[in-house]
Amino acid sequence: MTLIEFNETQGIFHLHNSKISYLISVEEGGLLSHLYFGKKVKDYHGQMRYPRVDRGFSGNLPGTFDRTYSPDTLPREFSSAGEMDYRTPAVLVRQENGANALALRYKSYQISAGKPSLPGLPATFVQNDNEAQTLTITLADEVTGIEVDLLYTIFANQAVIARSSKLRNESDQTIYVEKLASLEMDFVDKDFDVICLPGAHANERHLERGAVNFGKQSFASLRGSSSHHMNPFIALVDKKTDEFQGEAYGFALVYSGNHNFEVEKDQLAQVRLVAGINDFNFSWKLVAGESFQAPEILLAYSDTGLNQMSQAFHKTIHNNLVRSKFKNEERPILVNNWEATYFDYDEEKLKPIVDEAKDMGIEMFVLDDGWFGHRDDDNSSLGDWKVYQKKFPQGIGHFADYVHAQGLKFGLWVEPEMVSFDSDLYQQHPDYLMQVPGRAPSPSRNQYLLDMGREEVRQNIYDQLVKVFKEAKVDYIKWDMNRNMSDVFASDLPSDQQGQVYHRYILGVYKLMEDLTAEFPNILFEGCSGGGGRFDAGWAYYMPQIWASDNTDAIARQTIQYGTSLVYPVSMTTAHVSAIPNHQTGRKTPFDTRGAIAMSGVFGYELDLTKMSQADKDQVKVQVKQYQAIRSLVQFGDFYRLKSPSEGNQTAWNFVSADKKEAVLVTAQVLAYAQPYLTKTKLAGLDPDKYYQDQETKVIYGGDELMNLGFYDPVVHEDYTAKMYHFKAID
Ligand code: DGJ
Repeated sequence: MTLIEFNETQGIFHLHNSKISYLISVEEGGLLSHLYFGKKVKDYHGQMRYPRVDRGFSGNLPGTFDRTYSPDTLPREFSSAGEMDYRTPAVLVRQENGANALALRYKSYQISAGKPSLPGLPATFVQNDNEAQTLTITLADEVTGIEVDLLYTIFANQAVIARSSKLRNESDQTIYVEKLASLEMDFVDKDFDVICLPGAHANERHLERGAVNFGKQSFASLRGSSSHHMNPFIALVDKKTDEFQGEAYGFALVYSGNHNFEVEKDQLAQVRLVAGINDFNFSWKLVAGESFQAPEILLAYSDTGLNQMSQAFHKTIHNNLVRSKFKNEERPILVNNWEATYFDYDEEKLKPIVDEAKDMGIEMFVLDDGWFGHRDDDNSSLGDWKVYQKKFPQGIGHFADYVHAQGLKFGLWVEPEMVSFDSDLYQQHPDYLMQVPGRAPSPSRNQYLLDMGREEVRQNIYDQLVKVFKEAKVDYIKWDMNRNMSDVFASDLPSDQQGQVYHRYILGVYKLMEDLTAEFPNILFEGCSGGGGRFDAGWAYYMPQIWASDNTDAIARQTIQYGTSLVYPVSMTTAHVSAIPNHQTGRKTPFDTRGAIAMSGVFGYELDLTKMSQADKDQVKVQVKQYQAIRSLVQFGDFYRLKSPSEGNQTAWNFVSADKKEAVLVTAQVLAYAQPYLTKTKLAGLDPDKYYQDQETKVIYGGDELMNLGFYDPVVHEDYTAKMYHFKAID
């Protein structure tokens, strides 16, 4: 199957599959111009050649007198600093003489089957080379010899393209890469809104939408991680685009460090997006012959609204990014002791929780923070991954045996990137801590960062973790990170390489995860950073699931999970039922509501099972069975957002199995009213010709009825309600 063609006469690259086309042209002077990304076209006949118009103050190519052709207005694929383009550049390289100018011109191309990996970085992959094709376009700067490879992979069956760039120093001088975007994309004639996913700790990824206005907007993180505060994703959408109609262009960076999505509307209302590693405090030294690879970014296109865009992301992330052997396995229902006990526990206190879990049919017990060193609060012991004898006098393996003997899997919490001052690790290796010489490092949650960019530091942590993972016979690991980076300095790097520290840190974390996940392929790893502080596509490459938020309140979670689903598959999003009043919001929501919202993700509990009323305990048993019956559908079915929590009093979403024989609908309402207006919910994604039976009421509906007429939502006289419906197709 041909997915990429090059028309030598026209100088046109055409990447296409049954859903999308992406067109690039080589223009006069070797400039690479962006022509089109959107719904598939069979052929291209040259009509998108950028009109030649003389624009005042937009100059022309050196050595030419054609006033109608300017790099400053042409839609580009990859622009550089120092040329006649006043818009945000994709690349900036400081050269020996202090200049930053490059003129990257088309040099050559290569088309290859499949998808190359990106050494040291997370990146999409294919099982068979016929699932994708990759185009590499090489641009070169004649004066210095610096070259940039632009990589485009088109997948055979998805409306998704993976892009990245690699800068090769083919010059004879030492250079400093001060910016290298993963992607630039220029749009003409588009009046876009931009959607992003900002937030905060315990309030992650709420969907925000606003106009793309003249000037520049930036959606970024400077925290050393992808962050709670701005997820590494944006979508550019038409004004009329909603969940089911309109064009949407989604961009998700496969990276967990500092990022920046710069959106600029220029003098002609053209829109440029430049996205990749944030260039704040970034400078990468390359001696002659060395290269720098920027992270990958996924581009998803939909002409039928945001749901379609999300599904393209979900499928690509699940199929082509998640590597874990657990990716297609139903994930165990767990109980985690964090909100049950915090640090106040020992083996004897935990055993009754395990016993209750067994009785309720829960499948895994997760031992959270506090089992190591001498950790009784958050002041100590990070970096000392040895069991706390006071809490587990007979060792962690002994407790693991107890959990296993009850028929449950055993999970353990770790925070490998951190150190406490009060720890053996800090006493022995104070230099492992990241800090600026002569300055006291800033604490956050009373803890400090280890410099994971250093091999020696990683090795120390790796050795400790391997030992304890084996001792504890763990089936699951929760990998936490409870602060952001500060005091950014690497003690082993010279001054002209301090601009590498942010990126080198995250490369170090990737290396440690690569080594540990390879060493323990049978452990299910879950990512976490104070909840969803590192919920990104890069992380998915190493860990198939992530704790979505420290906020377990069922109402707050609707907004968080709704926003998360814009990019990330449900199989990646963990969600737990917790106690009331909720520990983060103080809200009291009904048990059913907490169940319905948590069951909309990878399900578990986060409360003291021994302290529940008998009625709630009975409910847990029911919920466990209920979730087991729908688990595969929820985790691996198609997900449709129906009503947004940020647009009104209600939330609704549904899941549909691949064969469309089964569906689960969840509806929720925040406040009750004395005289409520009647509302309806219409499902999506069903087979209009099939008949579906509501498993509770046994009423049968046509798929077309459920999607076109819908049905009335229950009239409730109670706040914070939610309801789950389960439909099965009948023959
Ligand atoms: C933050 C996590 O998100 C919580 O679930 C819990 O593991 C705490 N850290 C433990 O310190």
